[in-house]
Amino acid sequence: MAFTNILITGATGGIGAETARQLIAANPDTKVFLTGRDAQRLETLADELGDHVAGQHACDLTTPNAAAKVVEQAVDAFDGALDAVIHCAGVGLIKSAADTTDGEFSRIINTNTRTTFLIAQASLEAMAANKKGRFFTLPGTLGKYAMRNASAYVASKWAVTGMLKCMALEYQRKNVNIGLFFFGGVATPFWDDLDMKIAPDKVISAETAAQVLVQSMNAPDHLVPSELVLQPESHQLGL
Ligand SMILES: NC(=O)c1ccc[n+]([C@@H]2O[C@H](COP(=O)([O-])OP(=O)(O)OC[C@H]3O[C@@H](n4cnc5c(N)ncnc54)[C@H](OP(=O)(O)O)[C@@H]3O)[C@@H](O)[C@H]2O)c1
Repeated sequence: MAFTNILITGATGGIGAETARQLIAANPDTKVFLTGRDAQRLETLADELGDHVAGQHACDLTTPNAAAKVVEQAVDAFDGALDAVIHCAGVGLIKSAADTTDGEFSRIINTNTRTTFLIAQASLEAMAANKKGRFFTLPGTLGKYAMRNASAYVASKWAVTGMLKCMALEYQRKNVNIGLFFFGGVATPFWDDLDMKIAPDKVISAETAAQVLVQSMNAPDHLVPSELVLQPESHQLGL
């Protein structure tokens, strides 16, 4: 079964954009619906991907009704046949618990947890109606392990893990697979504004992260990973 009508959130980001490129390279029938906040970067990516773009919508997914609207637009763009979602939208925060403000905590939970719930809620129903679907997202290793100076981010991502495991049980008989990808550090703009630097050559490249997502998207039903941990040697947590 081919999964060729794919909604990508966070498409303007390092992992989202590269995954869109590789999905199309792996299967030329692929059509993508792209969303991200930065309208200019979204336009540039859409120009690059050309006819493979079924639609695009620049928005902040935390605003009221934005997540449901994006899913609705993607379903319409695919004439009702949304096959898969790769939900990459997310933000980081590296700060001690003592220094994390109430506003920062709320922003991280709102962006990483609440929007994941809303995108999953709308898209899982749409895919279940067709009895075909894959929903992949990236809690990262901090959706499973702890790290100092990451309590707000870890809270947002452990919540994603728990929430989607519950949803996986609710949708397991509807032929919709949920895949949780626990990558360690990936070299993307994610790190640009964070108070922690990575050595790009010692972490996972965006190309490798995208390869794993694309292979999983194209895997037969019985081999779709429900959970996959990939940690570079330099970023090992929880061992
Ligand atoms: N990089 C890593 O080391 C790593 C490791 C494990 C897991 N992850 C997770 O993987 C996902 C993708 O990360 P990345 O490395 O590709 O990061 P990135 O390059 O910073 O991209 C993040 C994407 O999320 C979008 N976004 C952020 N806030 C949003 C909002 N409120 N509404 C809509 N879109 C929003 C950004 O849009 P704009 O840029 O247009 O604002 C961008 O497209 C994130 O969930 C991240 O937590 C990353």
